Amino acid sequence: MKKILLVGGGGREHAIAHAISRSKREHELYAVMSKKNPGIAVLCEDFLLNSETDVDKVTEYAKNIGADIAVIGPEAPLAAGLADALEVIGIQSVGPKRAAAKLEFDKAWTRKFMQKHHIAGLPAFRVFSTGQEAQAHDYIDELGDVALKPAGLTGGKGVKVMGDQLPDLDAAKAYASELLKGDMVVIEENLKGEEVTVQAFVDGTHLAYAPSVQDHKRAYEGDLGPNTGGMGSYNDAGTLLPFMVEGDYIEAKGIMEDVIAKVKEETGEEYKGILYGQFILTAAGIRVIEFNARFGDPEAMNVLPLLETDFIDIAQAVAAGTLDTLDVRFSEKASVCKYAVPAGYPKDPVKDAPIEVGDMGKALLFFSSVYEADGVVYTTGSRAAAVVGIADTIAEAEVIAEQALSNVKGPLECRHDIGKKELIQKRIDHMKVLRGDNS
Ligand code: GLY
Repeated sequence: MKKILLVGGGGREHAIAHAISRSKREHELYAVMSKKNPGIAVLCEDFLLNSETDVDKVTEYAKNIGADIAVIGPEAPLAAGLADALEVIGIQSVGPKRAAAKLEFDKAWTRKFMQKHHIAGLPAFRVFSTGQEAQAHDYIDELGDVALKPAGLTGGKGVKVMGDQLPDLDAAKAYASELLKGDMVVIEENLKGEEVTVQAFVDGTHLAYAPSVQDHKRAYEGDLGPNTGGMGSYNDAGTLLPFMVEGDYIEAKGIMEDVIAKVKEETGEEYKGILYGQFILTAAGIRVIEFNARFGDPEAMNVLPLLETDFIDIAQAVAAGTLDTLDVRFSEKASVCKYAVPAGYPKDPVKDAPIEVGDMGKALLFFSSVYEADGVVYTTGSRAAAVVGIADTIAEAEVIAEQALSNVKGPLECRHDIGKKELIQKRIDHMKVLRGDNS
């Protein structure tokens, strides 16, 4: 009997719990989450409602239940050193230790690390600290078109780029000055292209890759509005997105493999867990936007339901460093994931409003930032629930997702355009222009 502890209570963790629940191995699932996610709770023997970054409490709970292995979903407990603390009491984690998780929570460290180890895909960048305002402004002028990233964790929402949130150089300089009051800032060339997420299980040395996924960060249809944690995502049957060529996926995998080898060299820590690579395909080739030390949300909800290999076997292989002996497979299906978010999200979301989930038909439903009280599910103000359609084609998967979405009731909004033919064609056309393909 394997006792698995899942840490986290969002949509990504519901997808992980769902993958674990499909395991053929005799097991019991336990969870620590800050709010009661009803989708996770129903799959667990027991759960603890507690802050996921409270390392002492989570470790005590893991010990009490006799956990064999922990699966750490979000980045914050990784940054808090939860995998390190669990290892001290003999529990291995799917989730890297703090030194290796730096790849996600210290963007300045990661860019310098990539530079030092000559890892491909590095954009022009410089890191500035408090007191270096004038130098930062000069560098913004030098690049002319920039992206500004706070060095620390921001849930993907602190990044601002020119042409989007920053209308001009003055706005970029003002934002740099604001960031420099608190933290270091990474200033980079503004990359133009199509974004691709590649995720992999990692056992310290070997990587087992999931199919490529594309997320949609902007809140409103047509890629407009403020940035969010991600409004929905899709993958195509197989490993590539419709605008990718095989070489893009090979290059992305090569970069991720290099990162894992060099993290060990740089930190002395073996990276065990999930590596999330976010790439952008530009006219000049593939570039790295960022790495995360966990599955993407929503991207986890695309790939985990397609996983054919037993999740518990994978978790054990990650811990043991034997992933190369396991045939990690994903079914060759397309999927479309769409998030229902509270009306007004992300600027002025409706909080504590009840939502109801009706017939999901052939779709899967993953609860995210909600909580259950007396059998009623309420919004919190962040992304509430995601529906996932799975089929042979993106178009069929999109119809399945839309049908299900119409049965998620409440003061909710979504992006209906995700996975639709028009938006995908726009991506294909964009990439053709960038590659200089006139066909
Ligand atoms: N979907 C973006 C992220 O998980 O960081």
